[in-house]
This record gives sequence, structure tokens and C-alpha cells, in this order.
Amino acid sequence: MSQKLDVAIVLAAGEGTRMKSGTAKVLHTIAGRTLVGHVIEAVNALHPSELRVVVGSAREAVEAHISEIAPTATTIFQAERNGTGHAVQLALVGAPRIGTVLVVAGDTPLLNPLTLNEFLAAHQEAGNEVSVLTAQLPDPKGYGRIIRDEDGSILRIVEERDANDFEKAIDEINTGVYLFDIAALAQSVAQITNKNSQGELYLTDVIALIKESSNKAAAILSYDYTETLGINDRSQLAECAAYMRERINEAHMKAGVAITDPTTTWIDATVIIAPDATIYPGSWLTGTTSVGAGAIIGPRTTLNSVHVGAGASIIESHCSSSEIAANATVGPYSFLRPGTSLGEGAKAGAYVEIKNSTIGEGSKVPHLSYVGDATIGTGSNIGAATIFVNYDGVAKHQTIVGNDVRIGSDSMLVAPVTIGDGAYTAAGSVITENVPAGSIAVARAKQRNILGWVLRKRSGTKSAESAIKAGATLNSTDQATH
Ligand code: UD1
Ligand code: CA
Repeated sequence: MSQKLDVAIVLAAGEGTRMKSGTAKVLHTIAGRTLVGHVIEAVNALHPSELRVVVGSAREAVEAHISEIAPTATTIFQAERNGTGHAVQLALVGAPRIGTVLVVAGDTPLLNPLTLNEFLAAHQEAGNEVSVLTAQLPDPKGYGRIIRDEDGSILRIVEERDANDFEKAIDEINTGVYLFDIAALAQSVAQITNKNSQGELYLTDVIALIKESSNKAAAILSYDYTETLGINDRSQLAECAAYMRERINEAHMKAGVAITDPTTTWIDATVIIAPDATIYPGSWLTGTTSVGAGAIIGPRTTLNSVHVGAGASIIESHCSSSEIAANATVGPYSFLRPGTSLGEGAKAGAYVEIKNSTIGEGSKVPHLSYVGDATIGTGSNIGAATIFVNYDGVAKHQTIVGNDVRIGSDSMLVAPVTIGDGAYTAAGSVITENVPAGSIAVARAKQRNILGWVLRKRSGTKSAESAIKAGATLNSTDQATH
């Protein structure tokens, strides 16, 4: 049977007071996506013809976010939060009058599209007017309970606050995910009242109304209760983030990615990893990061929107908005800032900071350097502790290094400056002028050895003793070396 979903309604108007946050609850994130973003992602997998999101608290921020992630969605403003039934009444204004509608809360980010699909199939095959997705929870406290008759069919849902002790002992709960026949929903949601402990219009009361009028109501138990956990506070946020982490890591491992310690590996839902990549413990991959086949990431590496080519390795490093080509190597302990591009087989070794720079194929920055606003050609080597002096205190300037250049250790390349192809700089040079191709630039004071100085000025010290043993003598003549 072909399944068709005409409308999906996401309820996201609540305050989320228990988050104690300046950010609207549904805009908090897990695995790099907002709570409501996860819900919409799952709902969209069912291809509803129309998506309607009820917003209220922090309206502007939530609306702006929805228009970004789901531009075709309609947002409906619920000025006063009179309950989930009220929210649905508003959401139905202007919606199609026949067909199937899915209603979900915006704070259940773990909803699994596969479960939703099975739920939709079961609902449509049975010809129900309402199906409610239920779960059995180890601790059902706070949720609405499912009241079934002796045959096991659902009679009604009772909220925790309105439940007696017998009802509270029931561990089957309302997940807040429902499918309705639109006409039946519209008719019954108009009849609910606020005669309950919260004085609100409960959407859950619709179930008893439909049960009584047509008997076409069903409760469908989901097999994995973690998928329907709702988030009301920060510890539930962390709990759901951990479930999401497990789910994401499982999927990568099934697809052939080696994750040596899934408990300490955090990968955003938006990240793409090729088979045979290895992710070592303590790594965090976020944003639009992608990792090529056979690449090695970690341990303890952060990649925020970084593209890593096949066979590259990034060890104990922090990288953001950068391109790392195939077989390039980074780290340990390096910091690649936005705009860094490492060519194929290039190297940013230990304690190297790079920003807004292109390092050509096979070029190396092996140790303790800062490279900013530079273009380095292919096959060049940047000696240890070289600094690209890109900032004059007011503005940033460019440095260009050609192909097969050898920058001596501890060089200062004062930008703007260009080092020609095949050129060298002498170690310890402060380079302020362009260096022509094939030349060596020496820009440092000449060395002068003052013979016997230690014997005269530091006599009696260990240094003086060792110097005497080595044959040094008092000698008043300075000697220049070349
Ligand atoms: C609701 C259900 C409960 C179920 C639980 C599942 C009702 C009466 N109760 O309880 O049976 O077990 O969800 O998580 O429906 N919202 C609005 N407008 C409102 C009120 C709420 O948009 O006026 C939105 C909230 O933002 C939230 C969702 O509806 O996303 C659910 O509301 P919430 O207050 O969290 O309901 P619960 O008490 O959790
Ligand atoms: Ca809730």
C-alpha cells in the first residue's frame, strides 16, 4: 500500500522554562542540529505535502531558523500557550481538510524516520482515525499514560497531573506522536475543553472522543523507547545527545568507518566519512566536515567544517574551515584556522598555526611555525620556527613563497614579501625585501667571537673550568668569523 502523508504539524511554541536558557528550547542543538531541526529531518523523510510548525515563545528566532532549514514550511503563531490541543486547532486553520496528518512535538529529536514510516503504514492499513505512538518507559513519570480496556484497545490518555495512583503505575506512555484522519481530528479537536488540572486544551483528549464516536483509535507501541524521549531540561539534553552519538557512530561503523572508542567520539549528524577512515578517541567532527577513505583522525582532534582527503592524517589537532588534501599530514598539536588549504601530501607538523593560507602539494611546515595570509608553492620547506609576519599592527599583508623554496629555520618573513622559486633564506634571517628566484637571502648580523671572554668575565665558573680543560686561553683579541 502506498503511504501518503498530507500534512505534518510540529508543535514548537512551548517556553522550555526548565532549560533555564536565553535560547528557545527547540533551538538547542545536539549533534550539530537543533532539536526542531532533527524533528523536521525525521518528519521530512515521510515527504509530507505540507509542513506546518506552531511557534510561540521566542517567535522571531524560531521562525528565522525554520525558514532557513525548511523554507517551504508554514509557521503558525500561537500567541497564548493554551495547550497542545489549542496549538493543533490553530495549525489546522488553512490546512487541507481531508487526508492524513502527523502531529509531533518539536522537542523529541531522536525520532527515527524508519519508525515513523512503520507507524504511518500501520495507521493507514488499519484505517484508523487516530493512532498514537506509545512507548514503555523504565520511568514513565511526567508523561501521559495510555489507558487500555480489557481487550487491549486504547480508551483514552491521562496526563500525569490528572492521573490517579492506579493510572500512574502504568508504564506505557504517550510519545506525543500521532497520526490522524484530518476530518476526524478537526471535528474532535473543536470539542475538547480545558477541564483539567492545567486548565489547558489537551490534544490527548481527542483520542477518547474519536474512540467513542467511531471506535477507530489505536495505540501502537514502539519498540525502542529512546527514540521518543522528550527534552525538557539540560540533563535530558545531554542524555539524548549521548543516544544520538551512539546512533551516529553505529551508522558510520556499519558503513565501514573504524571508530576505536565510540563513547568519546562525537560526530555531527551533518558529517560525511568514507569507509576505512579511522577515528581515534576524543575526536569531535562537526559542521560540514567530510573525511576521505583511509584517513586517520585523532586521537583528540577537532575538525569543524574541514574537508579531509583520502589517506590524510590529523593527529591531536584543532582545525576549522580548512581543506586538507589527500595524504597530507597534520600534527601533533597544530591549529589550522579558517582558510587553510593543504595540498596533496603537504605537511603541517608539530605546533604549527596556519590561517588563510595555501600550502602547495608536497610542501612542508614541519615545526613550531606561524603561517598567515600566505601562498606557498609546491615542494617547498619552511624551516622550524619560521614566522610569517603578516600583521604590521594595522593591516594584514600577503607573503608569497614559490616552488622548491628552502626557508631557513627561525626566519621572519615580513609581509608583503615574495620569495622566488628555488630561493633560500639563511637561518635566523629577517626578510623584508623580495628574494629573487635561485638566490639566498642572508639578513642577520654577522657573528663575532670574542676569544677568552668567559675566562676573563666569568672566571671560577664551571663554564670557565671546562673551557680551560678544552684548551682555551686568555686572549684579548676579538675575532670576526665569516
Ligand atoms: C505532552 C502530552 C503527553 C505526552 C508528552 C510526550 C498533552 C496534553 N500531553 O505532554 O501526554 O506524554 O507530551 O512528550 O499533549 N506546545 C505548543 N503549544 C502549547 C503547549 C505545548 O506548541 O500551548 C508544544 C510544546 O512546545 C512541545 C509540545 O507541544 O513541543 C508538547 O508540549 P509539552 O508542554 O512539552 O507537553 P508535555 O507536558 O510534555
Ligand atoms: Ca514535553
